Amino acid sequence: MARSGAARRRDGLILGLETSCDETAAALISPDGEILANVVSSQADLHARYGGVVPEVASRRHLELVTPVVRDALSTAKAELGDVELVGVTAGPGLIGALLVGVAAAKSIAWARRLPLCPVDHLHGHVASLYLQPDPLEPPFLCLLASGGHTMLLDVQERGRAPGILGTTLDDAAGEAFDKGARLLGLGYPGGAEIDRLARTGDAEAFEFPVARVPGLDFSFSGLKTALLYAVRDLSPEELERRRPDLAASYQRAIVRALVERTRLAAAKIGADVTAVVGGVAANSELRASLPDAVLAPLELCTDNAAMIASAARFGGPIPYPGYLALDAYASSA
Ligand code: KG4
Ligand code: ZN
Repeated sequence: MARSGAARRRDGLILGLETSCDETAAALISPDGEILANVVSSQADLHARYGGVVPEVASRRHLELVTPVVRDALSTAKAELGDVELVGVTAGPGLIGALLVGVAAAKSIAWARRLPLCPVDHLHGHVASLYLQPDPLEPPFLCLLASGGHTMLLDVQERGRAPGILGTTLDDAAGEAFDKGARLLGLGYPGGAEIDRLARTGDAEAFEFPVARVPGLDFSFSGLKTALLYAVRDLSPEELERRRPDLAASYQRAIVRALVERTRLAAAKIGADVTAVVGGVAANSELRASLPDAVLAPLELCTDNAAMIASAARFGGPIPYPGYLALDAYASSA
């Protein structure tokens, strides 16, 4: 049957899938990086009662959600699977059971339609959130990647090439520090956005929290978390209730300072003209305000999504049909 002009414009689409943690996500982008659909189904409510992601629960939920989420993305983009020419999927790092659901779904879709499949590293996905329309960023640039699983300073030279790692966290990731801090403060999960919200009404100078100074361009957040633990322990329940916004603001300030300080140092060290910030913590309002000259990932692309995975697939190495059937997921990069 003849296709309408409108439908034909949908040719060559990239389908992205992301299931590395607690978001089941599917997206469709055009060959030049325009987002046509970006569906994210968060499982946060499901995990909130446990105060963190329960891997087995996440895997089972991904299994239930992955097909409806792909269908939703196709209908939002007014597209069909026949319009898709490449499937990109997060292969790691992340929760292995969760990743396997996305990888199996991607393989099935690609294999059934004889399409190539591009395995995407989740970290490259976050960086590729900067390559989407309407304001795609061209390397070279320095990139601060701050998420729940990673805190890294990356030297990005080319879109399709793995970036150089200039610094990383020696213990907790920045997002993890936010989440653990929120837990100590009796806030909900995920904690970053909660601390961000509460900090707006608090005094960031009220508590003196240490910013760990480790050599080079690495980060360390575990001491900060312990400092918050002691501060909370020293307060009566009534005092804690009253001072919670001050604690949140002071704690957030310490994390943001550590991130900003190291990012500036790295930019000076490699002589970067452009600095970019990506990952869930890039949604933090104080961090965004503290780096006014930086290119910030759009808010809706900071936390996990599949548009960034499709974007990375656009510049990645696709495996032609049917060579990907034995493709495996990996839990960690090492
Ligand atoms: O990139 P992401 O969605 O998942 C990982 O790859 O880890 O990042 C999630 C992290 C969580 O730790 C969450 O608390 C944090 O990003 N986050 C924030 C904010 N929104 C999300 N941290 C600080 N301020 C926010 N507004
Ligand atoms: Zn992520």
